Amino acid sequence: MNVVLVGFMGTGKTVVAKRLAEKLNMRYISLDEEIVEREGKSINEIFEEDGETYFRKVEKEVTKEVSELKEVVIDAGGGVVKDNENISNLKKRGIMVCLTASPKVIYERTKQDDSRPLLNVENPKNKIKELLEKREPFYANADYTIDTSKLTINEVAKKVISIMKKAKDSFKG
Ligand code: S3P
Repeated sequence: MNVVLVGFMGTGKTVVAKRLAEKLNMRYISLDEEIVEREGKSINEIFEEDGETYFRKVEKEVTKEVSELKEVVIDAGGGVVKDNENISNLKKRGIMVCLTASPKVIYERTKQDDSRPLLNVENPKNKIKELLEKREPFYANADYTIDTSKLTINEVAKKVISIMKKAKDSFKG
């Protein structure tokens, strides 16, 4: 069974997915890293030079391919859930856990990092609120949700592991 971490930017997907992979001795896969490798340029460069629509196209292809793997921890970019086919592909072999955090925590966690084109705007606080609102119905498609605002990486990882243990028997992937 795979475990797929979805959720908004800055909710801890990457650090938690890496910790999970370590603890469970599973392979870690980042969809963003796969995209960067395939395109030979950064996410910022892809958005700037090719546009978001192109990025989403590559993201969809990569998602489809990665969804075929088994026993992996998948770190999905924040916008992956906007496409229903991405969701059903990722759920085929895995449980989907959505990490959330308050807008304030998301802002604090992302403000020093300029690698996210969608937040490289004049008013990132407003942008975070606006995007969170738009995306809420998509994140609701996850099987489980964990609010990471007040938790450490290990605490979140432990919660995911206990969810996985419970889900394992009933999961038909
Ligand atoms: C995006 C999130 C990013 C990355 C890209 C777009 C989004 O991933 O895929 O910048 O649309 O929310 P992280 O959520 O890992 O930052």
